[in-house]
Order: sequence, then structure tokens, then C-alpha cells
Amino acid sequence: KNIAVLYGGTSAEREVSLNSGKAIANGLVQSGYHVELIDTKSVPLSVLADKNIDCVFIALHGRGGEDGCLQGALEYMGLNYTGSGVLGSALCMDKVRTKQVLLAQGLPTAPFKVIQQAQFDMADCEAVLAELGGVAMVKPAKEGSSIGMAKVTNAKALENALVEAFGFDDRVLVEAWIHGPEYTVSILGDTPLPAIHMETPREFYDYEAKYQSNSTLYHCPSGLPEQDEQALQILAKQAFDAVDAQGWGRVDVMRNEQGDWQVLEVNTVPGMTETSLVPKAAQAAGIGFSELVSRIAESAGL
Ligand code: DAL
Ligand code: MG
Repeated sequence: KNIAVLYGGTSAEREVSLNSGKAIANGLVQSGYHVELIDTKSVPLSVLADKNIDCVFIALHGRGGEDGCLQGALEYMGLNYTGSGVLGSALCMDKVRTKQVLLAQGLPTAPFKVIQQAQFDMADCEAVLAELGGVAMVKPAKEGSSIGMAKVTNAKALENALVEAFGFDDRVLVEAWIHGPEYTVSILGDTPLPAIHMETPREFYDYEAKYQSNSTLYHCPSGLPEQDEQALQILAKQAFDAVDAQGWGRVDVMRNEQGDWQVLEVNTVPGMTETSLVPKAAQAAGIGFSELVSRIAESAGL
């Protein structure tokens, strides 16, 4: 069987995607597939038409690859592809729309404000922050890997963080700060995998903590009592379904001081280097990396 692994691309998460794509390709080769590794930054999608491809494995993170555009093009070309379809991909790329859909379906997510660059008066920073309890996380609506994000505790810092975030998106999410630990639940097919608890000495689980630091701790099993682990897995699957995610993905969740879960977002093409979160969770469930990537490919209709 021939699998095209699309990776690289032009989003701000290009570097992460280059690593995910290489690892996925290696895993698929080990499982006996013939693999074409295609960097969409330099190679047009039209090459897929001539290659007798059985399935496209999407290893692109961020806009262009993870946001429904590519998924739409592949639908149009009649090619099988991994993961979520057009709707789920587009929804999950946008953290604001994700939270609105979660709330509409009665799922928990932290209070937030949406800031439109063209309509916002920086003089309102004080009021926005006060309404969110004085501490907040600023996130470009359609970014990944914590790019453009900042924790703010005063109006001036919020203003600076908004200017920074507007460099990535004209719509920015300002979310009430969640005092508590962060977890993530990977979904493979219809099944939630064991939760991972991430711990960092940094201010939050940012780009450095994710990809560069060796002081980030990953606990899997999560250390949660069995009942809580189960509740978290059920919530993660509900969130995954609520936003029309499919095939595989990863749901990021925090737990506030009251002990309530708060869904942050759903990632439809999560990081897939050999040390990334989804492979860690799969490993804890007895699924090695090459089995993991073959199962994702097979679920695409290979
Ligand atoms: N956006 C990055 C790749 C992740 O969610 O793992
Ligand atoms: Mg993300």
C-alpha cells in the first residue's frame, strides 16, 4: 500500500510538523507500507494525482494543513486521508469557535472574552481583565503549540500580549486563568487512551516546555484516582465528538481549584514525534509507535 505523508508546510508550526512527519513516515515504513514523504511547502498537491496513493497521512500542524483547507482539497480529489474531516478540522483550528461549541453542548470550558483587532480599544484592557478575575491567558484564535500565547496579570501586560497575538491572528481569545494542573487525553478511533499529566516549572506549558526543555514532566499513568481518570476520559471523548473530530486527536484539559475539569481545546493533528504526547499515551496502552501510525492510517479507509 502507498501512503503519502504530508508534512512541513508553511504554518508557524512548520518545525514541529517536520519532526512529526519524519517520525510517522519511519513508523509506517517499519509496518511495511511504501511511503512518500511530501513537504507541502515546496511540492504542490497535484503530485498526489499521479502517484497511485491509497491514503494521505496528514502530518501538518496549524493553518493550511490542520484547518480543513487541505481536507477539502483531498475530498475533492477523492483521496482517503487520516483524521478529522473539513468541519471538525476547521472548528478545532479555532479556539474561540471550539469553546462556543463546547458551551452550546453543555461541556465545561473556562470563561473568556473574544477580542477582534479592528474593533478593540486598548483602553478596555483593564475592564476585560477585571471581568476575567484579574489573571488571564492570551491566545491567538487559530494557532498551535502555544505560539503567540502569554499569561497576563495586569492591563499593560494584556495590551502587550494582544499586540503580540495580533501578529498571528486578528481574533484573540482571552481566557480566565485556570489555577490547576494540565492533562491531555489522546483519542484513537473511538477510544480515549490513558491521560497524561504535564508538569512544568515554567509559567505554563509553553513552546519551550513542549519542545525544548528537559524539565517538563509527563506522568502517564496520570496519578488520578481511577474514577477521576474515567471522568476525564469520558469528558475528552464528549469534547472530541462535540466538535466533529474524527479518527484520532488529542483533547487538552485543565482542572481548576474547585476540582472541575475545563476543556482547553481539541487538536486534530497532534504532535507525533516519537516523544510526543499521543505516542506516550499509546505506549501506556501497549500500542507502540509503528502500530499507532498504522492504526491511524487504516482508520482512514486504507
Ligand atoms: N499543535 C501541536 C502540534 C499539538 O497539539 O501537539
Ligand atoms: Mg493546539
